[in-house]
Amino acid sequence: MSRAGKIAVIGAGFYGSTTAMRLAEYDIFETVVLTDVLEGKAEGLALDMNQSRPVQKFETQIVGQTTGLDGSGYEAISGSKIVVITAGLPRKPGMSRMDLIETNAKIVRQVSENVAKHAKDAVVIVVSNPLDEMTALAQIATGFPKNRVMGQAGMLDTARFTNFVAEKTGSPVGEVKTLTLGSHGETMVPVPSKSSVKGKALSDVLSKEDIDALVERTRNGGAEVVALLKTGSAYYAPSAAAAQMAKAVALNSGEVMPVCAWVDGEFGISGVYLGVEAEIGSQGINKVVETTLTPDELAALKTAAEAVRAKQADVKDL
Ligand code: LAC
Repeated sequence: MSRAGKIAVIGAGFYGSTTAMRLAEYDIFETVVLTDVLEGKAEGLALDMNQSRPVQKFETQIVGQTTGLDGSGYEAISGSKIVVITAGLPRKPGMSRMDLIETNAKIVRQVSENVAKHAKDAVVIVVSNPLDEMTALAQIATGFPKNRVMGQAGMLDTARFTNFVAEKTGSPVGEVKTLTLGSHGETMVPVPSKSSVKGKALSDVLSKEDIDALVERTRNGGAEVVALLKTGSAYYAPSAAAAQMAKAVALNSGEVMPVCAWVDGEFGISGVYLGVEAEIGSQGINKVVETTLTPDELAALKTAAEAVRAKQADVKDL
């Protein structure tokens, strides 16, 4: 296995540290840098992860680095080809992702400015919430080309939908296909017309009531976990999704994935970061893929675009 390059994960909470661990275990990077503002936290986690290398059998080295609000410590990310931004607060039970916007905007702006300074050629993958707005903000604050900034949400929401369909139909997840577009929030757009079980259309396998219930459960997938955990939000499925996106960039795989990408004319929608399918390569988004949707699904995607557009306009002043 050949290893190359450096990837940085900003924020060593559960989401960030699990992402760093998954990236290291792929064993395709020379170095995974993990940073956090809590003194010693990233260093401690990196030490622990490195000690798992002989057991898990990977050679990638994890480097932990405390960063200051003055930007100190960010030299550690210099030369990173990919930066995953997980910094920010997670939801508490009863909160919407949008309730985090003011606090997380300050954090994501500060992080993005330092990313621009120290890793100016990086592809940025944002996972902080509210996702679509924080992705837009990271693009503004880094000043990077829009194709080099994307957000993780569609992979996660699609994975949730797939898991629910697999459980409901008693099928292996490998035989279920689903798709989720739109925002990572109230205007999420699960796409039953692109969903199937063992090659059969979802509508031939489940009743409309069952599909509607699974769509609703997918839309509330994050909140369902938050309500059970009581402190913090999901991280196993989110980190799996973010790490796969980073791997697609690292390997220039050309895979098509549902991600939050800049939409510029596709679907008749322009000038907004939105959950769509896109081809991923070493420069981030190669292109947005214009998936065929039913008229209702297309209308829902346009509604989602208008909802996030309004918030993305606010975010530049936060
Ligand atoms: C979720 C958070 C991470 O959906 O947005 O679980």
